[in-house]
Amino acid sequence: MANQDKINELIEKRAKAKMGGGEKRIDSQHAKGKLTARERIDILLDDDSFEEFDMFVTHRTKSFGLDKQVYLSDGVVTGHGTIDGRIVYIFAQDFTVFGGSLSETYALKICKVMDMAMKIGVPVIGLNDSGGARIQEGVRSLAGYAEIFQRNIMASGVIPQISSILGPCAGGAVYSPALTDFTIMTDKTSYMFVTGPKVVKAVTGEVVTTEQLGGATVHSTKSGVSHFLAENDGENLILIRKLLSYLPSNNLEDPPALTTSDPIDRLDDVLNDIIPENVNQPYDILDVISIITDNGEFLEVHRNYARNIVVGFARFNGRSVGIVANQPKFYAGVLDCESSRKAARFVRFCDGFNIPIVTLVDVPGFLPGTGQEYAGIILHGAKLLFAYGEATVPKLTITLRKSYGGAHDVMSCKQLRGDLNYAWPTAEIAVMGAKGAVEVLEGSNIRKIEDAKEKLHFIEEKENEYNTKFANPYIAAKYGFIDDVIEPRNTRFRIIRGLELLANKKEVNPPKKHSNIPL
Ligand code: HXC
Repeated sequence: MANQDKINELIEKRAKAKMGGGEKRIDSQHAKGKLTARERIDILLDDDSFEEFDMFVTHRTKSFGLDKQVYLSDGVVTGHGTIDGRIVYIFAQDFTVFGGSLSETYALKICKVMDMAMKIGVPVIGLNDSGGARIQEGVRSLAGYAEIFQRNIMASGVIPQISSILGPCAGGAVYSPALTDFTIMTDKTSYMFVTGPKVVKAVTGEVVTTEQLGGATVHSTKSGVSHFLAENDGENLILIRKLLSYLPSNNLEDPPALTTSDPIDRLDDVLNDIIPENVNQPYDILDVISIITDNGEFLEVHRNYARNIVVGFARFNGRSVGIVANQPKFYAGVLDCESSRKAARFVRFCDGFNIPIVTLVDVPGFLPGTGQEYAGIILHGAKLLFAYGEATVPKLTITLRKSYGGAHDVMSCKQLRGDLNYAWPTAEIAVMGAKGAVEVLEGSNIRKIEDAKEKLHFIEEKENEYNTKFANPYIAAKYGFIDDVIEPRNTRFRIIRGLELLANKKEVNPPKKHSNIPL
């Protein structure tokens, strides 16, 4: 063969590989509103940055007539490229080849990019769209999954791992995304479940649709499995780019710092009036966040799940931070099982990847009742407490209004190694609110008063007394539990200065195999 013929052969093979399972199946993929694996990679990565590995890999199965069905790439496209100029490794499951199902060689391809990403110290992105284990390969496919899981576990906390779900993801296959840091699901075309509707019906009798069982809405609102919900494939992929812009490439680096034209010392007068006079009246913590961050930008994680707490990424003077904030607009910002778990995982992610944590506190306490106790609020609340206490990244806490009881301790208080703890003058830092406190402390006196009007008057008087004494930031400030009481309009500046001060903070936990966070 002449050289040119050999080159032509290569070009032909490449073209063939790029057609995946063929035109008909590509059309069917498009008809479902989905993009192909290679189209997705094109959107995700910087132009012309993709370099593919293992394009010529094929499966090794001869039975079930598979010796006659051989596709170059074997159902998964792998390689590396850049996002905003930074290297990432990627695998994209190709549904047009055997429904994107995972064979032994397919798993090896994924493992190769994961190993490379670990060696180099860069993120791994998985684009999932697969019918699961390739049935014809039996246990070899299961072994392939386990190889991937093991790598997910080893990579956890070392390099960011992001999973997009862009089609089916069922059975044990769900556990790879679950082991990664962030999962992004596309509405209507993606689903995740351990067992599908047919098995559910056979085992429990429950009749449920795919969407009801494991659609993007379910996992973004009820289970919390999905951190982000995207309208379509394109939005899903752009979200990955945005998310990565806040993250370092590995746990030994700092997140990239951007330059910003947003002044560091702007005074946000509106903040001085944002807390309603009536302490029981809600306001939207997202308003506060958008006022103080660079250009008002905030990438909210788990936006529709456990909405009584808000978590997400923002920048202050170009530096990435993780924000954790109670949301008075939902259940008064109370801490419950789900919000505690949500925030704990976020705090641990930030700590693992050198992202400082800014905590905005307005919390009336933990949600009381049998529902919460039976669901294990003790353990879930402890997760958040543990996560904050264990975190060694810079931690800056601002108490806006309520900070009561156990929830005060949990929300990054001074004694959990909060580095800078500020409070607004509207802060109320106490064991509990006035109503509860007066009921406990004055219960016997209240019961002695027979006249209803007089009783009300007495209660009001005692509540006012309690508020004057305890519902302010100055007692905590007197003991040094609050470093300073700040004017709300100065918040952005104080955060930026605080982060600069803490930029070189070094804090090390005692050596151990690993901690035993209450799971
Ligand atoms: C081999 C598969 C396959 C699989 C789909 N295909 N899933 N081939 N192994 N697991 C093939 C189909 O035969 C078909 O081939 C093509 O992919 C497209 O599939 P369709 O069924 O035509 O597509 P659609 O109607 O969109 O349905 C998609 C689907 C369905 C819902 C994913 O294919 C399905 O239910 N597949 C089986 C899912 C499953 O049970 N997987 C095992 C889960 S257990 P042709 O040639 O016709 O195009 C598991 C364990 C993992 O994964 C354990 C890890 C620890």
